[in-house]
Amino acid sequence: MGSKHGRLAHRSRAGSLGVSSADSGHIPVLMSEVLESLAPQRGETFIDATAGRGGHASAIAAAINPGRVLLLDRDAGNLQYALDRVREAAPDSQIDGVHGDFRSLAEISRKQSICADLVLADLGISSTQLDDAHRGFGFQQDGPLDMRLDQSCAYSAADLIRDLRESDIADLIYNFGEDPFARLIARKVAQTRTHEPILTTAHLARLVREAYGSRARASRLHPATRTFMALRIAVNDELRALEDFLKSVAHAVRSTGDGWLSRKARVAVISFHSLEDRQVKRTFATLDDEGLVTRVNRKPLIAGDCEVASNTRSRSAKLRTVQRIARKS
Ligand SMILES: C[S@@+](CC[C@H](N)C(=O)[O-])C[C@H]1O[C@@H](n2cnc3c(N)ncnc32)[C@H](O)[C@@H]1O
Repeated sequence: MGSKHGRLAHRSRAGSLGVSSADSGHIPVLMSEVLESLAPQRGETFIDATAGRGGHASAIAAAINPGRVLLLDRDAGNLQYALDRVREAAPDSQIDGVHGDFRSLAEISRKQSICADLVLADLGISSTQLDDAHRGFGFQQDGPLDMRLDQSCAYSAADLIRDLRESDIADLIYNFGEDPFARLIARKVAQTRTHEPILTTAHLARLVREAYGSRARASRLHPATRTFMALRIAVNDELRALEDFLKSVAHAVRSTGDGWLSRKARVAVISFHSLEDRQVKRTFATLDDEGLVTRVNRKPLIAGDCEVASNTRSRSAKLRTVQRIARKS
């Protein structure tokens, strides 16, 4: 596997030609809405900032084939899978992969000498990451309390739970997880860790349930759902990564010369959390007010009843897309 920001050129491991989304372990959300909003054309250049299992990327790559594709992911395993899948879907295209963070997309694009017509960021994690007990993102099965998207990074959720002050744990669960019982959960965690380390997902989920007490019965979600989401966001610094990505989009759109975004580039972001969507909405609205982009849809696109029924992940998905307005340099 290539190092961070290094090209990957491994042989196919994604399976047979035309691997289906179900086989990939992850069903991409809002697929037809993404294709309609980005409107990929033959010969274009596409960056998938969150390649995941390559569902969106293979559909877009097939539509631009022969074109150019750059895939990016913090998860080296997902990146390799997506690369294999996209290479099969668009055999006449130039396809490269970079193991890295989309917060550095401008720099990565410069290094790859790429100027994108289409950019997609589908935030969060893939179902395969959530379902893999060893990654520690979920609590359905027991596993290490890890949650690192990039497994070459040092700091895990267990480290965070060990090191943060009780009040910081409470703030984190309240702000990122919007859990009204954040303080009770943080108290339980702080009390427990004085006599035993909290190292597994099942242990943390049990502590959250105990902190909820009888309130757990009234909760539609498992009481640990919000705590786990909040920890994942914190471990991977997800909100700041998005902020940096949006800043670099805004910077490229404001510049007059040829940067990493072509003059008529379209940029689409799918978010799953209100704090993420707020950032995307504000950035796109500001660029629209400055007359630099048009919003492809005024309101975010969301999944219809049919999609929600067949893929619960899509329930909270919001897609926003902008198109850069071409200016003379
Ligand atoms: C929802 S999945 C993408 C699924 C993909 N669209 C598909 O159709 O298969 C999100 C992916 O983004 C990756 N990711 C999350 N934050 C990232 C970041 N800051 N930089 C790069 N990749 C990131 C995750 O590792 C995960 O593989």
